[in-house]
Amino acid sequence: MTHAPQHPIQVVAHRGASEDAPEHTLAAYKKAIEDGADALECDVRLTADGHLVCVHDRRVNRTSNGRGAVSALELADLAALDFGSWKTREAWRGRDEEPDWVHRPEDAADTSVLTLERLLELVADAGRRVELAIETKHPTRWAGQVEERLLLLLKRFGLDAPASAAESQVRVMSFSARSLHRVRAAAPTLPTVYLVQFLSPRLRDGRLPAGVGIAGPSIRIVRNHPAYVERLKRAGHRVHVWTVNEPEDVDLCVDLGIDAIITNRPRAVLQRLGR
Ligand code: G3P
Ligand code: CA
Repeated sequence: MTHAPQHPIQVVAHRGASEDAPEHTLAAYKKAIEDGADALECDVRLTADGHLVCVHDRRVNRTSNGRGAVSALELADLAALDFGSWKTREAWRGRDEEPDWVHRPEDAADTSVLTLERLLELVADAGRRVELAIETKHPTRWAGQVEERLLLLLKRFGLDAPASAAESQVRVMSFSARSLHRVRAAAPTLPTVYLVQFLSPRLRDGRLPAGVGIAGPSIRIVRNHPAYVERLKRAGHRVHVWTVNEPEDVDLCVDLGIDAIITNRPRAVLQRLGR
């Protein structure tokens, strides 16, 4: 069954096609592009030697065979780790038959730590327009360095100064208004997304931090407070929702006129939307 929208909805692969392949690896992003995702979501953190890498957690313990905080490790330390095998173990749990994703030695290049630079190269070589939604993690710890490095890297790829927000291939997301403010101050035409996990009284009327055009509420907020989406839209904001994996939540997003669905299952969501 499909639930086709009246207006285009962007499908964004959250950490890549992260249900099928290990999150934040080249394997997951290649799969998302193959699956037809319109955009890729990634979290970025700074290593001890100043490289931006795509890792969600503060530590590498959950998604690699190593231990420690990303901020305390150098890129060479991270490059020695395996970011793929954990997913195979997870996929095998409770199954008798081989799961879809099995990490093999020949996958090592696609399941080592992913730098943002390598992800930008992948997007540049995708052969079609693929957008990128980059989330700054831990922006307070580094006092502006995450945003500074990010903008330098985007500049190298010619992505830091789009003619307008609507034309931009990249957007920057954060739970931190301060991080988005830094991005806007240095790159005023780059679109920014304010992520909302808790609907505080301050946010309920649909206002966002100054200059931010896009709201990023969780699906839980959207389910519990559909009127919030209406207020955001009335205020002229676009709405990108995370993390939407269930068909009934996709249908709800369609009915509410959401602009982008961020999902671990891009293929299934595209099918639900009739694409
Ligand atoms: O896309 C926004 C979403 O990724 C925010 O939550 O914890 O998955 O980074 P998290
Ligand atoms: Ca994220």
